Amino acid sequence: MSAPGSMRVVALVPAAGSGRRLGAGVPKALVPVLGESLLVRAVRGLLNSGMIHHVVVAAPPEAPEEVRAELNPLGPVARVVPGGSDRTESVRLALAEAERVVPDAGAVLVHDAARAFTPVPVIQDVIRAVEGGARAVVPVLPVADTVKQVDSSQRVTATVDRSHLRTVQTPQGFAVDTLRAAYDNAGDAATDDAGLVEQAGETVTTVPGHAHALKITTAFDLAIAETVLAAEPVPEDDLP
Ligand code: CTP
Ligand code: MG
Repeated sequence: MSAPGSMRVVALVPAAGSGRRLGAGVPKALVPVLGESLLVRAVRGLLNSGMIHHVVVAAPPEAPEEVRAELNPLGPVARVVPGGSDRTESVRLALAEAERVVPDAGAVLVHDAARAFTPVPVIQDVIRAVEGGARAVVPVLPVADTVKQVDSSQRVTATVDRSHLRTVQTPQGFAVDTLRAAYDNAGDAATDDAGLVEQAGETVTTVPGHAHALKITTAFDLAIAETVLAAEPVPEDDLP
């Protein structure tokens, strides 16, 4: 896939989780939604940005061949490596493969297969921010609910000012050397990649996220995604 930007961009897709909370009986990335798996939808969204040279997918360690077959129709641009026992390890393995396959990449995205419905413009905004010089970029949403702080006996101790709070989505974008340095210094398990970059003392910037970039965690989330897809087809350009 060709890309117009000056920087070569690779995307890592952690897809090695089992999907225990979804409980579909197959790895979550392979669960179909209206006939197409979360993984195919997530990878196609990345490719449809028109800005990504290569995708490396971390597959469930027991199912790399199944994942390869699943991605075959998308062409030779996606590579598959067996993932690890937690997300951090899966990203680490995919990053190593990406560095091997595209050694001159300047930017790297990390995008959960579970956020399969992320609109293409969000992906493009993240890449443009890295191309514009940001070292680390995350898509975010304001917090809709009132947020309370509680003590160990669940009594409310404060109402948190949410005007400065954001929830974080993927893809997260990085200068490759920034993500590499963060992973070199990382401990065992981190919940998000930008958190590792923060720990390393680098600035993390934000772009607007989108409700459709929700993480599919439970059967409820899957039902929402199916309903949104069926009822509200997004414009052709925005389709993952
Ligand atoms: N992931 C991964 N390797 C792991 C665990 C998770 O690549 N060892 C990926 C998942 O496939 C998913 C993303 O990280 O795309 C976010 O994880 P999560 O939503 O927690 O997915 P699962 O771990 O599969 O779900 P659960 O925690 O319910 O088992
Ligand atoms: Mg998990």
